Amino acid sequence: MRQWTKEERYRVLKDPEEIRELHERIVKSDYRQTYHIQPPTGLLNDPNGFVWHDGVYNLFYQWCPWGAVHGLKYWYHTCSRDLVNWYNVGVCIKPDCDMDNKGIYSGSAWPGRDAIHLFYTGNHRDEDWKRTSNTCMVKLYDDGRNAKLPWPLFGPNPNYTEHQRDPKLYYHKERNKYYILFGAQTKDKHGCIIIYQSDTLSENWDFIGELKVPGYEDFGDMWECPAIEHIGNHDVLLLCPQHLLLPGRGGTVHHSGYLLGVMDWDTLTFNHDGQFHVLDFGFDSYAAGCANHLPDPNKAICTAWMGLPDASYPTDEEEWSGCLTLPRELRIRDRRLIQQPIAELTELRDEEIDISDGKMPRVCELLINIRPGDASFRLFTKADGSGGISIEYDDVAKRITIDRSGLDKRFNIEQGESRSRPLENGLSQLRIFIDKSSMEIFVNDGDAVFTTRVFPNPWENEFRIKADCDLKIWSLKPSVMDDFIIW
Ligand code: FRU
Repeated sequence: MRQWTKEERYRVLKDPEEIRELHERIVKSDYRQTYHIQPPTGLLNDPNGFVWHDGVYNLFYQWCPWGAVHGLKYWYHTCSRDLVNWYNVGVCIKPDCDMDNKGIYSGSAWPGRDAIHLFYTGNHRDEDWKRTSNTCMVKLYDDGRNAKLPWPLFGPNPNYTEHQRDPKLYYHKERNKYYILFGAQTKDKHGCIIIYQSDTLSENWDFIGELKVPGYEDFGDMWECPAIEHIGNHDVLLLCPQHLLLPGRGGTVHHSGYLLGVMDWDTLTFNHDGQFHVLDFGFDSYAAGCANHLPDPNKAICTAWMGLPDASYPTDEEEWSGCLTLPRELRIRDRRLIQQPIAELTELRDEEIDISDGKMPRVCELLINIRPGDASFRLFTKADGSGGISIEYDDVAKRITIDRSGLDKRFNIEQGESRSRPLENGLSQLRIFIDKSSMEIFVNDGDAVFTTRVFPNPWENEFRIKADCDLKIWSLKPSVMDDFIIW
């Protein structure tokens, strides 16, 4: 694997021409996605600033231009009117000030009177590489102009370590107040959330305290990308605890999950039902973020980074990695989050495919209705039926298991290659979205989701099914442009 020096990772992009050739090379890759948001070059990580404003969904992501490496981060901007067809807008926020000299880190957005307000963590480092996390703001005007406030809204909170970042804006309608939640680390190295409050978006932010999450005072050493979402009659606390092993999650120490409960804004306590749930049971999902300010306030739509920190992928050697998951609508059923691909995605369906020859289309949607009994699905097998990624359902144990160890291109093996989840009511449906290098498996109408990157070789192109089921497959139209727009 390529070793990057600090200078290479933190090189400032001065001119798009510096990466044009890289872009031209990677768009030829067989693993470029066709309906998922992906970076023009380099690395994509967290979704940022997902917000609806004036008929348009704006979605940004963490972007490092140079290769599949975490270095200098920019906010890259994409837009859509329907959450299905996305176009590249270009870089929106650059690390061009002292307060953010080593990266525009994650954050969120809210439309104000004259512009969308983007809140991010300005990652400043001094000559000794000592970090200062600043909370910074950019106004994005309707005509596309943007203006960065040349000084931070506020600096780091001295009562926490240097790890404090990822401002998520929450507007409380009844109180007519704005809150910002940050992921942070206490001085004795515990993950937590700190909260600021203001009456206006662009000034007078005050620290009002640390969020109390009873029973979760010792749960990983840092919580990244926290958020509170109001869904149905519930509050959902999203968080990404780090450096923590959880049962059934292999060797991974990074998790994207949630607690269900009620937020008490007077006492800053999140009263919950005691259970931390993993958001996605697959291998590659992190830093999930919900859209702010949706036209239908009763809806919640989220997307996540289809990747993990400290992981590497087969496209790293092509100098790019990462993409975002499909947008998913969140609901609550039986005290759990249900995640469904947004309804508009059916527009991507092209032709229904006849698969009697056992050949796997590379870009498709599968809808499988399954009758009771054991079931086995193996996708991307070789011509002799060996290998592939397997989805096995054991009807006695009532458990579904996904195993990707049968693919030729194996990666992140130490994070575990098999994941499973109990299904109290048995398996009745699988809806699977396959793009050139990803699979998103929605089980039982969104009761569980398994998201995974897959990098099949051309000869891994068949499938085998042993199940009592009805199956439909559609090829899907491309909906995300792969053009070279930098600024
Ligand atoms: C999560 C994260 C955030 C940070 C960003 C930097 O993946 O580490 O906490 O703001 O990525 O790219």
